[in-house]
Amino acid sequence: MVKINSCIFISGTGTNLNALINNSRNYNFPINIRLVISNKKNALGLKIAKKFSIPFKIIDTNNPLFERYILNEITKRKINLICLAGYMKILSKGFLKNFKGKIMNIHPSLLPKYKGTKTFERILKNKEKVTGCTVHYVNEKLDSGKIILKKKIDVLKKDNVQTLKKRTQKVEYRAYSEAIIKVFRKF
Ligand code: GRF
Repeated sequence: MVKINSCIFISGTGTNLNALINNSRNYNFPINIRLVISNKKNALGLKIAKKFSIPFKIIDTNNPLFERYILNEITKRKINLICLAGYMKILSKGFLKNFKGKIMNIHPSLLPKYKGTKTFERILKNKEKVTGCTVHYVNEKLDSGKIILKKKIDVLKKDNVQTLKKRTQKVEYRAYSEAIIKVFRKF
C-alpha cells in the first residue's frame, strides 16, 4: 500500500513516537515515519529515532527562523502529515496554514476539558471520575482543533499524578494509531 510520508514532532520522552513507529511497520498501517523533529537536543525520544534508524533533526524553537527550518525539512522529504507527540511549542498561524488538516496532536485529557499543561494535577484536584486522551487536528488555538477520537479511562481513588499519567499514556498509544487509521484508511 502507498503510505503517507509523516513526520513526528517531539520534545520529551517519545513514548508515543515509539508506539507510532512500531505500528507504522505494519504493512496495513497508513503512514510511514520519514522524519522526527525535536526542539530539545536532549529529548529522550531522539534515542528511539536512532534505535529505529529514522532520520531526525533538532530544530531549536528559540531561533526566530525555526519554522522556516522545519518547513525546509518537511518539504525536502515530501511530508504530508505532521503528528505532534509531546511537542511543547505552539506553531504559528502562518506555519499552520501550509498544513491545514494535516497536523494532529494528542492531549492527555478529554478535550475540551483541561486544555494546556498540568493536566493530571488539575484532573485530580477536581476529583474527576473519568478522564482519558484526545487526538485532534491542530489549529491556531491551544488544544482546540477538530476532535478525531477520544479514549476514556476511570480515575481511581488511589491515583496520583504518576499513576494517572501512566494509565493515560497507555491508552494514548492505541488512540493515536487508531485516529490515524480512522482518518486515512480507505475501505
Ligand atoms: C503525552 O502524554 C501527550 O498526551 C502530551 O505529551 C505527552 C508526551 O509523552 N501531549 P511522550 O513524549 O510521547 O512520552
